[in-house]
Amino acid sequence: MDKKQIQQLIEKATEQIQYCYAPYSGFRVGAALLTKDGKVYAGCNVENASYTPTNCAERTAFFKAVSEGEREFQAICIVGGMDGVIETYTPPCGVCRQVMMEFCNPGSFQIILATGIEKYEVFLLKDLLPMGFGPDDVRK
Ligand code: THU
Repeated sequence: MDKKQIQQLIEKATEQIQYCYAPYSGFRVGAALLTKDGKVYAGCNVENASYTPTNCAERTAFFKAVSEGEREFQAICIVGGMDGVIETYTPPCGVCRQVMMEFCNPGSFQIILATGIEKYEVFLLKDLLPMGFGPDDVRK
């Protein structure tokens, strides 16, 4: 991915901050998921009074995309912060990493953490979820 593509994803993820439903934690997260053919699906976190039904921004983006027929992904960008103020990287939670493992190649899927369009780092899923359990392990 080139810098311009990454910056577009950061902008899209940041746009999502306005849609977050986070009345309990106040922590607002936006995500932008890029398919292999260049489409972007965005997501925000959606909390719940009962807490456990809360859906993270990353999973919102994945479930939107998968429910529209998408199956091949190249990258996701994540931004977040308390009250929507983005000051530090927001790494994906373990559940979201596992959802990524279901649909993405851990050796090539890129996870972009950002605090602004000029400040970001790119990680591979395999480094954030070492020895992840995925679809191939069930098929064997
Ligand atoms: N959250 C996300 O949406 N993505 C992450 O990667 C980390 C956590 C949400 C869940 C919850 O609504 C809030 O942030 C605080 O945990």
